[in-house]
Amino acid sequence: MLILGIESSCDETGVALYQLDAKSVDQPASGLLAHALHSQIDLHAEYGGVVPELASRDHIRRLVPLYRQVLKQAGKQAEQIDAIAYTAGPGLAGALLTGAAFANALAQGLNKPTLPIHHLEGHLLSPLLSDTPPSFPFVALLVSGGHTQLMRVEGVGQYELLGETLDDAAGEAFDKTAKLLGLGYPGGPQLAALAKQGTAGRFTLPRPMLHSGDLDFSFAGLKTAVLTHVNRGIQDNDKADLAVDFEMAVADVLCTKAMSALRQTGLKQLVVAGGVGANQRLRETLNAQAQRRKSQVFYPELALCTDNGAMIAFAGALRAHSHPEQLQASGSFGVKPRWPLMEHSA
Ligand code: KG4
Ligand code: ZN
Repeated sequence: MLILGIESSCDETGVALYQLDAKSVDQPASGLLAHALHSQIDLHAEYGGVVPELASRDHIRRLVPLYRQVLKQAGKQAEQIDAIAYTAGPGLAGALLTGAAFANALAQGLNKPTLPIHHLEGHLLSPLLSDTPPSFPFVALLVSGGHTQLMRVEGVGQYELLGETLDDAAGEAFDKTAKLLGLGYPGGPQLAALAKQGTAGRFTLPRPMLHSGDLDFSFAGLKTAVLTHVNRGIQDNDKADLAVDFEMAVADVLCTKAMSALRQTGLKQLVVAGGVGANQRLRETLNAQAQRRKSQVFYPELALCTDNGAMIAFAGALRAHSHPEQLQASGSFGVKPRWPLMEHSA
């Protein structure tokens, strides 16, 4: 089965082709045949954040060329596509609509079914695309720009929420703190780069809800603590030190809660997905703690940590295989800018 995947929920246009091996001899092997990405970073940089209308317009410009690019790269014809998976939510309404409209128009033209995909499910399953994938069941730590959740994952579409942030998402905390330190958009990678030059331990920052006894998070207080230091008048050469201490506080909280989730569920595999999963300090902290617990941490390939089409094509392939009844005739469609993943659990 050949699945085309389309991602357009925020500021990245991603298109990919995934071939699912139906285990028959005349099928080529499973795998990601091609994926192409256009990041809008340059477009939004001068505004310091994503401008939704500009994002939508740019997706419209990029979708067709990226689609042609992956077909060519994979050596496939449009007629060979069996189904078209697209991100139906959550995300920016206008941006989601561009991908959904493209997917449905193409599906109608080719007379193929569509498959609306939950963006977080794409992130969640993306480590399964790596060479050393985890196996079900596992605990997932989802850390993106809009979400911070711990989940027990039993299988495709079988998700149990264990805990989540009560205010800012981890990525949002990175982005807002980066702004406070005068860094540009996107804040997470820039703050991480600055932190590399800093010395740890100079600033005392809180670890919100570290001992709350549950698996929920809160990051708003941490951002406020950074603001307090900034308001006191921080020198330029102190910023890198503050960045390290901020990064350590986030990594500490995420790691402690993730380890608690492993303990509570009795599971030994932790999957980390979403943009913040690209953070090197978080990875080092998690790897060290997991090793101590004789547990294993799984990440998507670095290029697939942030938004991409491959994870949508892949989630589409798994869904089409395990829930074929969810394949839809193209035609009327909607998007869900707000869409809790639990509502999409089987
Ligand atoms: O998953 P993602 O690409 O998009 C959403 O679905 O939100 O995540 C984007 C978030 C942003 O907040 C970005 O600042 C953060 O991930 N991020 C990072 C790093 N790379 C991306 N945060 C910390 N360190 C990084 N290296
Ligand atoms: Zn994302």
